Order: sequence, then structure tokens, then C-alpha cells
Amino acid sequence: MAEKYWNALKENYSKNRFRKINDLFNDQKRFINFNAESAGVFLDFSKTNIDLEAKKLLIKLVTNCGFHEKRKSMFSGEVVNPSENRAALHFALRDRQSIKMLKNSSFVLGVHNTLGRMKEFANQIRSGATSSSSGEKFSDVINIGIGGSDLGPRMTTNALIPYCDGPKCHFIANVDSAEVADTLKQLNPKKTLLIIVSKTFKTMETMTNARSVINWLRQSIPDEIGKHLVAVTSAPTEAKHLNISADRIFEFSSTVGGRYSIWGPVGLPLMLSIGPQFFEEFLSGAAEIDSHFLNAELESNLPVLMGITGIWHRNICEYPTRAVLPYEHRLRLLPAYLQQLDMESNGKRVCTTGQTLELESVPIVWGATGTNSQHAFFQMLHQGTSVVPCEFLISAKGHEESLRHHHDLLIANCLAQSEALMKGESYESTVLNQNFRECPGNRPSITILFELLTPKLLGSLIALFEHRTFV
Ligand code: F6P
Repeated sequence: MAEKYWNALKENYSKNRFRKINDLFNDQKRFINFNAESAGVFLDFSKTNIDLEAKKLLIKLVTNCGFHEKRKSMFSGEVVNPSENRAALHFALRDRQSIKMLKNSSFVLGVHNTLGRMKEFANQIRSGATSSSSGEKFSDVINIGIGGSDLGPRMTTNALIPYCDGPKCHFIANVDSAEVADTLKQLNPKKTLLIIVSKTFKTMETMTNARSVINWLRQSIPDEIGKHLVAVTSAPTEAKHLNISADRIFEFSSTVGGRYSIWGPVGLPLMLSIGPQFFEEFLSGAAEIDSHFLNAELESNLPVLMGITGIWHRNICEYPTRAVLPYEHRLRLLPAYLQQLDMESNGKRVCTTGQTLELESVPIVWGATGTNSQHAFFQMLHQGTSVVPCEFLISAKGHEESLRHHHDLLIANCLAQSEALMKGESYESTVLNQNFRECPGNRPSITILFELLTPKLLGSLIALFEHRTFV
């Protein structure tokens, strides 16, 4: 059945591949039919070559691939990861409504208990009620972890700097001694809290880095080093081998994938930085998207629309990469975060039954912030031989009111780039070599807009990307 829709989509594309995206705007309703909004996130996918027929076919394709059943399976806590025989319960760490669909009440109870413990711990560290072995308030936190045990807390604490009033967070991921040395040289061990984050508590990089940093702490803290240590893991027994006491171990379930784990104890550095209240707002933003993903019609369902746009670009147009372009300095780690989320989740050459895929899977995800990237690789985006679908992100407002004119320039650049990619630019051919200046245009992009990068909004954005990956 699904094959019928693949074929129809391919036919649509071969008929329209040289059509100008800009000409689609001759339809007055183009923009209205190709945008959607929820939880403060606005998606514009009008600057793509998807027309109304293709949109309909893509939604039919998704429906015919068992989307409704699979979404229900995930939110009911059924096994959706057959190769590891696991459910995927990351949404249950944040979601008050869809959690009702979960029958596993001991899991839900565990989530609440751990969140409660995290809040209490964060409040005590932030206030100084729980102090270091020398009785001082902790000024710094080191997060040691890699992959999903690093990228989430690192990206989110950077993104929410205007809300960070707790201890300063530092991150060590690479086994390269340079990262260890460069981090430690800024810090006073007597006022530093170490969080060792590893789902398995076996990862070579994390265990090597943890031992080196514990040795560094020991040189200045002869007694009560335990006051400086915290573990976040799904393998508490392994953490105990490092002499971390049970009350300093924050556990999460093996049904939460590393790259989806920021919502639970892996988010502890973020909670220490912004405080439990803003962390709750972060969770509530994600929960709003969960409920939207579960309940909105597919035609206006943000993760579905972003997912089908991805399928269109990767499988129908056969574009091999996708560029993520946040016009937001504080989201500069988002491309790296999405690389793991998308490419580790969908970077497979076989399907869930183990059969070799006949279609391409995930595109190569890459990117960097605007406007810096305009002066680096945008020439290739406008003039290169490959077409790269772009994903722009921009907020209406910045946090720096007194520097409002900077943000106005940022917005103008972001919108102008997507327009220029679509419309292109040609020059009078009377002048020699004008070909070199020509921008052919017809290069697709989507734009994700929001008002301000708040904790709640960031939660919505990340959950949106997670569900897009699922679609
Ligand atoms: O190498 C892959 C991986 O297992 C990721 O999936 C994971 O996020 C990372 O390594 C770190 O694993 P852990 O949290 O178990 O240390």
C-alpha cells in the first residue's frame, strides 16, 4: 500500500522538479497552507517544492506506514526498540498528560521520586545548605559524560545562560587530556562538585576522565571527598564501585535513550544552573509538544510536518544532507545535539526487522550559527553544485533589550537568506564572467520561529526535534 504513495510522490517530483518554488507563491494561500504553530513554535515550510498534492501524499504515506499505531505504542510504553527489546519512555519524564497512557506505574513513581530528589539536591547546592568538604558553597560543577550524557546538558546550559544563576557548569567529554587540563586549570577543587554521568557507567572516556578528576580533587581534599561526588546512571551498582554513596546516585531507567535523556537526572547540571522552577518550565514546554504531537491533526502536527518535509528532501528529492542554521548564538551547540539525535537514532542500513533498507535513511546533519556561517559556507549553499535543504531558527526578540538593533539585523539576515536561497539572483550577461556571481535559487528551506529563547520554549523545541526523529 505504502509503495503506491512512494510512487505517486516520485511522479509528483519528476513532473515538478524544475518548477520555481517562488512560483508556488502565485497561490495566495501558499503561506497559509504551509505553516503551523503550537506551544509558541511557528513552522514555515512554504519555501519548499512540496505542493498541496505532495503534502497530502506524504501524510498518506506516513499513515500507511503504521504511524498512528507506532505513536500509540510509544506513548503506551510498548517495545518500540525491538533490537534492544526496549520501550522508549523519555516523554514520561516530562509529560503529565500522556503519562496517563502508561500502565507501568512503578516507572512513573520512580520518575517522580527522582525528580523530587533532584529538586531538593539542587536547592541545597544552590543555597549553600549542602556545602563542600571545606564548608564552602559550591561555585562550579563539572559534568563528565559523553554523547547523550554530555550534549544535552552542555547545549541546554549554553542556551539558557540568561537564566543561569547557580554554580557555573563545565563539561569534560573527550578522553583527550587537553579537555581535562583546560577545564581544571580554571577551577578551585575545594568549591567544585563533580557529576559523573553515564547510562552504563562503563564508557571508557567517562571512566578515565572521572578517575583523573577524582585524583585531582583528592590532592586538595584529603577527607570527605564523597561530598564532591554525584553519579547519574542506569547502573547504580557500577557507580557504587567508585565509592559514590547511594544518596548521591540519581538513577534513570534503561528505557530512556541517552540522546533523549535531558529531561531526567542527566539534566541535573541544567537544574543546578537555572533552578528547579525554570527546569519545571523546561519540562512543561516539552509536555505541551507531546500533547500536540498526540492530539493535533496530522495536517497541522509540527513533528509530522517536519518529518514529512525531511522524507521529501531525503527520499524523494534525494538531497544527501540537511543544514541546521540557528540565528541564535546561544543555540550554537544545537547542530551537534541534533547530529546525535538524528544520526544515532536513524543512522541505520537495515530496518527494525533486520532487512536491508531499500531507501536512504537519515541525511547527514550539519550546520552552524548565523550570521557567522554566512561568511563561511553560505557560498556553497547559494552557489554550490549540491542542493542542501536548510533549517533556519530565529526568535522575535533577544534578551538584550539595550542591544535591540543587533537582533533586528539578525532577523533581517535570517529572513533574507531563506528568500535569497529560494529566489536566487541573476546578472546582466553583457558583463564578462557574470556567471560566477549567479545564484540559481530554487533551494529549499524551512524556518522555525519563536518569541524568545526561554526554558519553556527550549523544552518545546527539543521535544519537537525528538518527535520529528520518531516520524
Ligand atoms: O557510543 C554511543 C553511546 O552509547 C551513546 O548512545 C551514549 O549517549 C554515549 O555512548 C554515552 O554512553 P553512556 O551514557 O553509557 O556513558
